[in-house]
Amino acid sequence: MKKIKVGIIGLGSWGECHLEAYCSIPSVEVVAICENNKSRLEEITARYRGLDVYSNAEQFWERDDIDLVSVVTYEKAHLEPVMRALKSGKHVLVEKPVSTVLDEAIQMQETAQQYGKFVAPGHLLRFDARYAQIYEALHDEGLGKPISIYLKRSREKKLFATYQRTHTVFELSVHDIDTAIWYARSRVTKVKAYGRHAMGADVPDILWSCLEFENGVLAVIESNWMTPERAGLAMDDCTEVIGEKGVAHFETRNSGLQLWGDQSGRVSVDQHIHYRVGGKIHGALKEQLEYLCECIRMGVSPERVSFPDAIHGIQVAHAIEQSARTGQEITL
Ligand SMILES: NC(=O)c1ccc[n+]([C@@H]2O[C@H](COP(=O)([O-])OP(=O)(O)OC[C@H]3O[C@@H](n4cnc5c(N)ncnc54)[C@H](O)[C@@H]3O)[C@@H](O)[C@H]2O)c1
Repeated sequence: MKKIKVGIIGLGSWGECHLEAYCSIPSVEVVAICENNKSRLEEITARYRGLDVYSNAEQFWERDDIDLVSVVTYEKAHLEPVMRALKSGKHVLVEKPVSTVLDEAIQMQETAQQYGKFVAPGHLLRFDARYAQIYEALHDEGLGKPISIYLKRSREKKLFATYQRTHTVFELSVHDIDTAIWYARSRVTKVKAYGRHAMGADVPDILWSCLEFENGVLAVIESNWMTPERAGLAMDDCTEVIGEKGVAHFETRNSGLQLWGDQSGRVSVDQHIHYRVGGKIHGALKEQLEYLCECIRMGVSPERVSFPDAIHGIQVAHAIEQSARTGQEITL
């Protein structure tokens, strides 16, 4: 089987996860990586041998043997690499948020159409079995049409030092905005949001957003950076969907595997997003990358993800930011 050739730009913490996941897919070959921080690039090349590495993106874009590029640069630095990749004939996976600027996201979509390549948003919850099983049970005999959607995402306080570089709505809530749009199969018409700045930063560390969809579905999205490290809960998430015929619920707190170490304390182990067992990587990130490579192989567009939904998600995120800042309800 012909291997799909992949390049990755941006090898920070999540870019390295992309690299690990691609390396665990037998039908994929990572041929080139690009990272403009030279000391970070050295760290990566010490762990992964045999890759062509670039600290200068110009040489990376000259490669004509790459089928798919993962863009895993900073949240506000996605546009340029996405455009360069599309214009040089490569399919693209762009990490969330695809952009924090609506016009940039529209530009990405138009350029992908113009050059006959796909640009897939990195909304990996669509590849997490827990979220995907709820999706499949909605709108049919299982749960029926959704009425109310609650999505919570809490992360550790220590991460806020880095990720306050982007508004919480784009860093955390954007995952759940996409999930709500996916589940509701509709567009948001009204937004009311509330933010709190418990740690005194410019962007809220606690954010509540109420969304009303055109078809009447309600969604409440709760995002925060307030989990103390000593809680041992790197991901404290909850989902509850009420449909006309039933309810779906899961939460990551008090469920799944925990390791209690003398030194480490209690650690809740990820078994869904990106984890290693038996020397191989598993989880939603790998599922997503494998799916996109399979779409390239089959010559089909990746319909499990939706760039129009991602664009609408950015409109909703801006409305949330504006509502939390002004105290007004926003109509889209
Ligand atoms: N889907 C998910 O669950 C998930 C999880 C974590 C992060 N992310 C997203 O992934 C992206 C990266 O996040 P991160 O946590 O890895 O950030 P990071 O700061 O750890 O890494 C970003 C890296 O990109 C490099 N970079 C920036 N611009 C570059 C350029 N033009 N050329 C080459 N390298 C460049 C930086 O030097 C840095 O090493 C963000 O959009 C983030 O929101 C998604």
